[in-house]
Amino acid sequence: MRKKYRFFLISILITIVLLTVSLVKEKQRQKQIEELSRYLNEEEIAFAITNNIMFSDLQDFLEYDNFIIFYYRSYQRLKEDYSLTPLEAINLFHNPNYYSFYKNPKPALFLETPLVLVNKCYYLEKDFVPEGLVLIDDYKLPHYDRPGDEIRLKKIVLEKLKLMFEEAKSNDHSFVVYSGYRNYQKQEYLYYEVYGENDALSARPGFSEHQTGYAVDISTATAGLTRHFEKTAAFKWLKENAYRFGFILRFPKGKEHLTGYEYEPWHFRYVGIHATEIHLKEITLEEYILANFEL
Ligand code: DAL
Ligand code: ZN
Repeated sequence: MRKKYRFFLISILITIVLLTVSLVKEKQRQKQIEELSRYLNEEEIAFAITNNIMFSDLQDFLEYDNFIIFYYRSYQRLKEDYSLTPLEAINLFHNPNYYSFYKNPKPALFLETPLVLVNKCYYLEKDFVPEGLVLIDDYKLPHYDRPGDEIRLKKIVLEKLKLMFEEAKSNDHSFVVYSGYRNYQKQEYLYYEVYGENDALSARPGFSEHQTGYAVDISTATAGLTRHFEKTAAFKWLKENAYRFGFILRFPKGKEHLTGYEYEPWHFRYVGIHATEIHLKEITLEEYILANFEL
């Protein structure tokens, strides 16, 4: 009997202690929210809660400087000024140089996948060579012949090009592949020797997506790599249908401020299943990645 009574008493005591602890914790939390509400608005507090940012961390920061206030204000300003989604705003906040060409570039994203991001802000190492490059001759696709410098591309790119060219043919359009994979040294030669360091026309070595094996220059036999290509019926067909085979027009007209390059009607990029959304929304690969992946 005495034993039972003691057990009962201990249980009650433990319950009281636990309740008191949780009450004190809740009170502290309420106090912190109250204090923070002197600095942050409701939306900012909700943001902190959903992002698991500890109130004590916030308070610490607030005591030293206005870092967190700055954080939220910057985030909100980005979101509002550029009409961004929360993910886009967070991505841009965490990657302020996402669109700042050649300013603290980062290693390429999604390497060895059709989503690989290589541009003026994401680079490839000098010795990077993609896996599984295949000679264009193996697929018997019409191409520009440079003896000793045969065109190679990722296997999937050649497979899809083959299907696309066949359908184009049944619509009376013929294309020629002018270039595919380029190594670092070739890009170095092009950038310095051929384009005279013109950043609007050529990528710097290590910054060309031709080095991924997923980029391909396509035109007609007569237009070649000139702006005349965009005036052809073949280009019109390609522009409207390439996405069905997983290709996007990579440097479109009107998006120069995002891609960093002049309009290139011939430069297509294999992105696989992502092509449909990019094509239908008329966005760039940069915008698509920013909107859909946490960076
Ligand atoms: N012309 C494209 C941008 C390149 O150099 O990769
Ligand atoms: Zn190109």
